[in-house]
Amino acid sequence: MKIGIIGTGAIGGTIAKKMAEAGHTVKINNSDDAEKLNAHAKELGVSPANQKDVVKDVDVIILSLPTIAIPTLPKNLFAEVPENVIVVDTSNYYPFRDADIEEIKNGKVESVWVSEQLGRPVIKAFNNLLAETLISGGKNPDAENRIAMAVAGDNDDAKKVIAGLVNDAGYDVVDSGSLSESWRHQPGTPAYCTELEAEELKQALKDAVKEEAPVKRDQAIVELSAMSSYPSHPDVVKFNRALFEKNPKTK
Ligand SMILES: NC(=O)c1ccc[n+]([C@@H]2O[C@H](COP(=O)([O-])OP(=O)(O)OC[C@H]3O[C@@H](n4cnc5c(N)ncnc54)[C@H](OP(=O)(O)O)[C@@H]3O)[C@@H](O)[C@H]2O)c1
Repeated sequence: MKIGIIGTGAIGGTIAKKMAEAGHTVKINNSDDAEKLNAHAKELGVSPANQKDVVKDVDVIILSLPTIAIPTLPKNLFAEVPENVIVVDTSNYYPFRDADIEEIKNGKVESVWVSEQLGRPVIKAFNNLLAETLISGGKNPDAENRIAMAVAGDNDDAKKVIAGLVNDAGYDVVDSGSLSESWRHQPGTPAYCTELEAEELKQALKDAVKEEAPVKRDQAIVELSAMSSYPSHPDVVKFNRALFEKNPKTK
């Protein structure tokens, strides 16, 4: 497939590299100047593109940006992008990083808000695994204990296409329902960055409590920031699981 990625940090950069390794044709854009973007693209094994070209002649566009950066994208970015091009949102809202976005703070589902900002449907994917998990936790489809990723959205065909890309990246897929249900894998939920297998992830999605999620999200940041040194990746996953008594990996 032909994939355009905007935002090539920990998540977008890893997706770019993995998609290119899986044989897809990938171009990237971020806020770097042309020289840095070219160097980054070379390092990832993909092509650099300006913001106008990154969305041209592709099957899938992946936005991997801090939530607060979404409204800064040009209003006409998708004006000439055909409707059948799938847009994926990997974002997670963190008030300490993304400032106050009142609608999200008042309960609007994060990717619903993103979709409204863009004026296009989005598929939410690649948001419920840590960058470190995405970098090194992938396995072949027939491997044991394969980690699963949640994919939400309102178009089943589009979700199937994105499930294929998630599989190429090394993860099982759990269809987490419509975009309005995607709060079930936002920060502060049992499905969020807890490295679950497919059946466990299904249970974790069911166990999520909407009102509890922002409280748990903020509690987690306070507790992680108060630690004398930043915990290792396995310790972060353990910490995230332990936030939920009923987490399938902790009960
Ligand atoms: N890190 C994780 O473990 C993780 C896991 C799942 C989901 N997520 C979510 O996925 C999103 C990306 O996370 P990340 O960790 O990859 O963030 P990151 O490392 O900070 O990277 C963000 C990327 O967005 C680019 N960017 C920012 N504003 C832009 C703009 N207006 N136009 C084009 N590019 C822009 C940055 O470019 P420059 O570097 O050039 O500024 C950078 O490449 C966030 O919403 C995050 O919450 C993160």
